[in-house]
Order: sequence, then C-alpha cells, then structure tokens
Amino acid sequence: MELSRLVVVSNRVAVPDPTGKGSAGGLAVALREAFQAYQGIWFGWSGKVAAHPSSQPKLVDKERVQYALMDLTSLDRQEYYNGFANRALWPIMHYRIGLSEFSRADYAGYLRVNRTFATALAQMVRPDDLVWVHDYHLIPLAAEMRALGLTNRIGYFHHIPWPAPEVLGTLPGSRELLRAITDYDLVGMQTDRDADNLRRALMQEFGAAQRKADIVDLGERQTRVKGYPIGIDVRGFEQAAQRSGNHRIVRQTAAGLGSRQLIIGVDRLDYSKGIPERMEAFERFLIGNPDQRGRVTYLQITPTSRSEVPEYATLSRVVNETLGRINGSLGEPGWVPIHYVNSTYPRSVLAGLHRLAKVGLVTPMRDGMNLVAKEYVAAQNPEDPGVLVLSKFAGAAQQLTDALIVNPNDKFEVAEAIRDALYMDRTERITRWERMMNAIRETDVSWWAATFLRDLSGNKSLGRTRTQV
Ligand code: F6P
Repeated sequence: MELSRLVVVSNRVAVPDPTGKGSAGGLAVALREAFQAYQGIWFGWSGKVAAHPSSQPKLVDKERVQYALMDLTSLDRQEYYNGFANRALWPIMHYRIGLSEFSRADYAGYLRVNRTFATALAQMVRPDDLVWVHDYHLIPLAAEMRALGLTNRIGYFHHIPWPAPEVLGTLPGSRELLRAITDYDLVGMQTDRDADNLRRALMQEFGAAQRKADIVDLGERQTRVKGYPIGIDVRGFEQAAQRSGNHRIVRQTAAGLGSRQLIIGVDRLDYSKGIPERMEAFERFLIGNPDQRGRVTYLQITPTSRSEVPEYATLSRVVNETLGRINGSLGEPGWVPIHYVNSTYPRSVLAGLHRLAKVGLVTPMRDGMNLVAKEYVAAQNPEDPGVLVLSKFAGAAQQLTDALIVNPNDKFEVAEAIRDALYMDRTERITRWERMMNAIRETDVSWWAATFLRDLSGNKSLGRTRTQV
C-alpha cells in the first residue's frame, strides 16, 4: 500500500522560524528529518493558552509540512502539562519516586487533553496515514484514537527512560497507562533495557506472552516494543562546529579563557540532569587538585525549564546556592571557577563552545539518551579532540563506551574522571574520539527516523482489533 502521509504528534510543535531561533531542540531536528522522506502533518500544542480554545487546530503550511496547532486552556496546561506529565510521570520515569506528586484531577486533565487531541486528529487523519506519536505527554493518544474507530498504524516513541516495573508500579494509574500503550502497533524506546522494562511490565500486569524477542502478545493484539537509540545530525553539527569560530560568543569565550582549559556542561534546568551534583564534583576536583585552581574554567549553560512546577523552582534555588558557595569559597580575584549561564543559545554557538572545551561533562542522574553527549563528540576537532565524561545512567552510555563512564552520585569518581580527562594524552583522546564518532555516525538521526518508520509501516502483519485488554 502506498503511504500518503506521515502524521507526527508531539506535545510541542517546532514551526520553522525564519530567524533560526526557538526551534533548535533535539526533537525538532529529529522530526524534521522524518519529514525528508514523507509529506505530512505535525500536530500538537501551540504552546499557547486561550480562554476558549478552538476544537480545530490552526494550520500553518511550511516546507512540505502542515503544522496543526492546538491551544490549551490554562487548566489544561496546569493539569496535563505541569501536573500529570511533569509532576507525576516525569519523576517516576526518571526513577525519582519521592518527587512524584500524583493528583486525580491532574490525571483527569491529562486524559482530557489526549481525548481532545484524538478528536481533532480523527478529522484530519486519512485511512492510509502513518501516525507517529512522541513523548510521555501522549501515552493514551492511540487508545483515544482507537476508541474513535481509527485503524491506522500508530507508533509511539518514548524519549525518556522507561523504568523498571517495580518503579512504574508505584504510580497510581500506571496499569491504565500500560493498557493504553498496547494500542500502539510499535513502541520505540531509547535503549534495549528500557524496552525490556516495558515488556516485563506488560507481561506482569496482563500475563502477556513474549512471542518473538520484541513482540508482546496479548491474545487479540500484539505490540512490538523495541530499542531505537535516537541520533543527531552528525554532519550538520560537525560543520556548525567547524564554522563557529567567527561567532561573537565563541570568540569572546575563547579570548576570555586565555591559556585556561574549558570544561563544559549544557543541560536544561532539570533535576534529572544532576547539575548541583556535578558542580560539587568540580569543587571536589579543585580541592583535590589545588594546582588546577586558576587553570580551568567550568562553563555550565542551563536554560530554565518548567518553572511553574515547584520542584524546578526548588532546583533553581539549590543550583544558585551551590554555585555561590563554590565560587565564593574557591574563586580568586581574576578567576571565577564556575560560569553559570541561563541563556538559550543557537546550535551553531553551542557547537563552537563544545569544540573549545577540553572536557564535556554529561552526568545526568538518569536520561533517556542525552543528545548533548553526542553533540559534544560531533563538535570536536579530529586532530585534538576533547574528552567526554558520561554518566552510566544516560542511554548514550550504551553506545559511547569510549567516554569516561562515571556514577554521577559519586562526586569523588566524577572528580577523578575530570582529572583523567584533563591529563589524557593526545593519542588516547584521538582513539577514543574516533570510536565514539563511528558509533554516532552509524546511528545518526536519519537512521533513527528511517528505521522506526520502516518497522512501523512494515508492521501490517500485527493484528489490530478493538478488543480491550
Ligand atoms: O526529553 C523529553 C522532552 O519532553 C523533549 O521532548 C523536550 O524537548 C524536552 O523534554 C523539554 O521539555 P519541555 O517541552 O517541557 O520544555
């Protein structure tokens, strides 16, 4: 059957911006790639709140893609986005049971927005369209679409970790979410470990059998659950890094460093990223290596994120206090150990800053993949590459085994890795970097999108009925 269109659905929709700003996220780059091969629609939240939002999306046509944008009410934003998605699900998915705040009202709001989206989509989707849903905000979307009679092939990609069944099981409503996920034909996870966690949960909850390695059989329906590690546009990022030298911020940073070595961290302000823990590891490094004081600068670039969610406001205070304490106790006139910046920079600038840095610190407490790790590698100068220090709890650690792999909970171990990275000889840096480059080239973003869509469109043999589990 000839596929007419690809319909992508995600919480946020990145409409191309002529200034090149505001659409630089990994998801935006990855999904644009998917549209290289298919014409289609990209449907989701406009990011705007309206008192009386229309039940039909606003349509914007740009570069082969039709963007379909839905406004939400402020209650929707509170319950669906801030509430259930980011206060209950996000912490559980990142193994932070103690931070998860469940509320029945938020959960009802989450289901309501999924139903609203499904209803609007049902009027746009043609019978032979391929539907690709993204992210934890929209887990029940396929179930809502099936309830409206849609029999299209629908895939879901989970961009964040999927925890062990024992962890997910602590969340009220998790059984319903598991049941809803089986309404997808194909479920993609960042790693094989995450895929295994979901398959085990389905088998435990519903007594499902594992038919082939990656197919969970629930009798009337089968769902394929498989790892598809997301990649980056390696060539594009490499080129951006090569050309970045003329950019004002990159030039100023290089000039400000003088002979100092640069260590870099780039993360959204999120507790899953381990930012205060990383600052304390750097502090430990400076205490243990006093000869390095005044010789290294750690630049942490951290755009603020989800600031209406209380746990994020608390994190912001903790980071500022940790930063102030370390800079106050270890800084000297003429040298600030940690530079902390909340701005959002274009990818071209980030690529240039990564290339300047001798060490890339990517030490999340938990992360689905972490594309910054891959971007740091892609940005390096092949003749004199820097060293990646990478958390064992990032999905990227499964592929980038030539990074210095650390436990982010152990600041002594991270401090030692910073030291090893700064002292590593050039031959070893080149060997490690070449192996990491090969890994990220093999599974770049085009591979990721093409592989997922090939499996989704070839999934016709998987039965799909309306029977509920
Ligand atoms: O990593 C998951 C994710 O939802 C991405 O899709 C998104 O780009 C990122 O987190 C930022 O989240 P938010 O849209 O809440 O700012």
